[in-house]
Amino acid sequence: MSEQETEHRLRLRPTMLSDLDFVISVETDSHNIPFITPWERPQHEGALRIPDFRHFIVEAGPDYERAGFVILQGCRNQHRSVEMKRIVLQPKGFGLGRACVRQLKRMAFRDLHAHRFWLDVKLLNTRALALYASEGFIEEGRLRESVRLSIDGVDGYDSLVVMSMLDREFQARVAMGLEAT
Ligand SMILES: CC(C)(COP(=O)(O)OP(=O)(O)OC[C@H]1O[C@@H](n2cnc3c(N)ncnc32)[C@H](O)[C@@H]1OP(=O)(O)O)[C@@H](O)C(=O)NCCC(=O)NCCS
Repeated sequence: MSEQETEHRLRLRPTMLSDLDFVISVETDSHNIPFITPWERPQHEGALRIPDFRHFIVEAGPDYERAGFVILQGCRNQHRSVEMKRIVLQPKGFGLGRACVRQLKRMAFRDLHAHRFWLDVKLLNTRALALYASEGFIEEGRLRESVRLSIDGVDGYDSLVVMSMLDREFQARVAMGLEAT
């Protein structure tokens, strides 16, 4: 399936309280947990209520099944600095992540009028790093050994890579035909 077809078969809709069992099950799945810091249910409930957040269910496929969720934070930020707080998808490697990131960029810059759209990602998360870099996010720096992790019973630390895109960079990508209009 082409990237455009994938994008057409993906939509974001606001998360409802009745989705939170699904959200928490995806978030705590052993395939996802190494890459994120899961929230308690009240944090998700807060993100559904508080206007600074946007919490979405990702629906994909012919029947628009729930595939994962995304959270934006800073949507009311006075500095117009919007954060891609979380993206977690259950089917991996089918292009849904890329389609989602593209929709989120459009939402951040067009609907929320962001000046800066940013995220942090663990250095060990090579898949997400490759995705963000290939979608035009620029590395700003690294928070060295800022998160604890445990792999196969061995404790250690990982660094967080901070990445961002500015509105003028997004516009330049639009002009170059790198972003859907
Ligand atoms: C990260 C995540 C959102 C990406 O979504 P996805 O649907 O799996 O990714 P895509 O299929 O769109 O692939 C996007 C790119 O990632 C890279 N990629 C995919 N699989 C990869 C792998 N196993 N290793 C390294 N890079 C990989 C490729 O560059 C790929 O683009 P390409 O196929 O055009 O070359 C998803 O895998 C996920 O939810 N992971 C667990 C939670 C997580 O890490 N969240 C992000 C926290 S910052």
